[in-house]
Amino acid sequence: MQWSKEEEEAARKKVEENSAVRVLLEEQVKYESEASKYWDTFYKIHKNKFFKDRNWLLREFPEILPVGQKTEEKVKELSWNHVKVHAANCFSRMHCPTMPEEKNHYRESSGSSDGQNKAGSDFSNLDSKEHRKGPLKTELFPGSNATFRILEVGCGAGNSVFPILNTLQNAPEFFLYCCDFASGAVELVKSHASYRAAQCCAFVHDVCDDGLPYPFPDGILDVILLVFVLSSIHPDRMQGVVNRLSKLLKPGGMLLFRDYGRYDKTQLRFKRGHCLSENFYVRGDGTRAYFFTKGEVHDMFCKAGLNEKQNLVDRRLQVNRKKKVKMHRVWVQGKFQKPLPFT
Ligand SMILES: C[S@@+](CC[C@H](N)C(=O)[O-])C[C@H]1O[C@@H](n2cnc3c(N)ncnc32)[C@H](O)[C@@H]1O
Repeated sequence: MQWSKEEEEAARKKVEENSAVRVLLEEQVKYESEASKYWDTFYKIHKNKFFKDRNWLLREFPEILPVGQKTEEKVKELSWNHVKVHAANCFSRMHCPTMPEEKNHYRESSGSSDGQNKAGSDFSNLDSKEHRKGPLKTELFPGSNATFRILEVGCGAGNSVFPILNTLQNAPEFFLYCCDFASGAVELVKSHASYRAAQCCAFVHDVCDDGLPYPFPDGILDVILLVFVLSSIHPDRMQGVVNRLSKLLKPGGMLLFRDYGRYDKTQLRFKRGHCLSENFYVRGDGTRAYFFTKGEVHDMFCKAGLNEKQNLVDRRLQVNRKKKVKMHRVWVQGKFQKPLPFT
């Protein structure tokens, strides 16, 4: 749904108002250095009751779905250790059919960049050590026998993990890694009745610490899911996170992104005194949220060496008839592919 000029102007004014007062720098440093503690407390309080299962996930991101029977033989041929040799036929492509037609005419899907600066104090150089090595491709590691591997970053209590695992339970070639820096969230995932270690490995991991090894080698993932997680990371650190994640993808692998968009109702509802930097806010519980434009999303993933396959703004109108209020939900959704070496 397109916004009228008046609606857009009203949203811009609200943001100008709620950003006028910034959180003190020493408090900002605390929100950054103790970010995992705030999220851990969040999961201690809410357990797995806060976020709804992401049942839209497989509809929006069919790239996650298992290959059909007829391509199964081909998939087996293309196990990870053959990827380099057979890169031009990379099996990820079979999981990445031509993008479906946009279902909602009100989505804006041009890839143009409005390249806004994400202002704020410089946290970008914290922890940027050489990354320590995870297992080698020739070693055994969780999921080493799989031929299709997904990593969900910032999995929380598993609201995406379990819809995926339930759908793919009869696809033994598939393996799901999921990580979160809140150990309480990872515990919730591991203790869930549908958690199966044969097809899933949940681990505690801070994606901002690029010195931390992953429990699998670089260059072996078919899909990385970034769903409402990058928004909770400091804007100065986002590019480093995306660069590191891009190294985990195999050629042809897809990074699937969905997160808050600029002027979403969540952004407009922040009161003065919660703004950390431009379009970046802290909630009362210490967790943070950034609101993206599709231009920023385009720039960030393309700078990490990925090719844009989809980048759209999904706007929906929510009407509360009782309170007679209209609110806009705004999300940005993107699909970015690691190039094949010979194309
Ligand atoms: C808004 S929640 C979304 C959870 C889940 N992706 C979903 O859609 O239900 C954001 C999640 O990102 C995690 N997170 C934030 N920063 C992180 C980081 N640097 N490394 C790993 N996880 C992080 C938080 O702990 C939290 O679980």
